[in-house]
Amino acid sequence: MSDPLFTPITLGALKLSNRIAMSPMTRDRAGPEDVPNDMMVEYYRQRASAGLIVTEGVQPSAVGKGYWRTPGIYSQAQIDGWARVADAVHAEGGQIVMQIMHCGRVVVAANRGYEADVIAPSALPCPDKVPGPDGVPAETAMPRALDADELPALVAEFATAARNARAAGIDGIELHASSGYLINQFLNPASNQRTDDFGGSPESRIRFPVMVLKAMADAIGSDRVGLRFSPGNPYNGMDVTDPAATFIPLLKAIAPLGLAYLHVLDMGLADLDTLAMVRDHSTTPIIVNNMLTAEKGRALIYAGRADAVSFGRAFIANPDLVTRLQAGAPLAKPDYTKLYTGEAQGYTDYPALDATAG
Ligand SMILES: Cc1cc2nc3c(=O)[nH]c(=O)nc-3n(C[C@H](O)[C@H](O)[C@H](O)COP(=O)(O)O)c2cc1C
Repeated sequence: MSDPLFTPITLGALKLSNRIAMSPMTRDRAGPEDVPNDMMVEYYRQRASAGLIVTEGVQPSAVGKGYWRTPGIYSQAQIDGWARVADAVHAEGGQIVMQIMHCGRVVVAANRGYEADVIAPSALPCPDKVPGPDGVPAETAMPRALDADELPALVAEFATAARNARAAGIDGIELHASSGYLINQFLNPASNQRTDDFGGSPESRIRFPVMVLKAMADAIGSDRVGLRFSPGNPYNGMDVTDPAATFIPLLKAIAPLGLAYLHVLDMGLADLDTLAMVRDHSTTPIIVNNMLTAEKGRALIYAGRADAVSFGRAFIANPDLVTRLQAGAPLAKPDYTKLYTGEAQGYTDYPALDATAG
């Protein structure tokens, strides 16, 4: 049998030439007005041999921004910027989906460069600090609790973001429901203490996330929509008690949507086999992530536990990661001091293998 990592796969409307996806990574390099710039076009172009690129988290609105220099997808200039990224990736034969990330309460006000609301399911601040413009961890802003009658407009904002991504020529979207951002804040009882239809029981906490997914699927087709989640992830103040109690109802509720894929950031929990839980309650293809090697990824696909794999950090310093894995070549290590700073340095200046040889 040929190596499954380098075998094509179809995920909904997405046709991947191999099963190695690039995991979404915020890199804080967008231009003025949160518009994708030349540097970003080049960065994604260099990595287009991935079977699928998932972009960094992209805010659907000004209110969705929490970090420094993250790109948006709500102005015409941002759409035009992303169109240049999509064109560059497609010219290299790649596929690219946009991760839609609304930070909710995880906002350092100085990161925005403008005044805007900070919203969350409940008026509870994020207990973790988040890097400010200078990279130093800073206190997050106090959010205000969303009124239930504001939620339809917020749902519509996500659908518009999905439409805008498609208008830019991006192949699909991935909803970020992990790591303590807005969708995760609704799912999790530590951040969602609402007493209306959107809080309390798991069935109520999943209501807003499911509405968002349905609206995005209606907007661009469910076969172009993915979902990222990580049960048991404590990041940004999430409660890690019994994640299955929330995620099983979520998986059941979204099963009829027929999404393109589920992107599972597997925390390797001792008391929950996350991939088995997802398979048991869903027939949607799984992209698995977190601290993988080619060997581990291959084994997961062979065992039928996942359909494709994603790599984050390995793609930072290895733009041609697929070629390197295929050749069994050594992997370059990223410069961790340049993750969120350095402009082109530590971003677009990592060479491909053929450029480093001889
Ligand atoms: C610099 C950096 C930025 C990240 N930004 C995001 C993000 O915007 N959205 C997201 O879902 N995950 C984000 N992640 C998590 C990665 O997508 C991935 O889950 C993580 O790095 C684990 O995969 P790996 O072991 O292959 O690196 C980020 C990780 C890194 C290192």
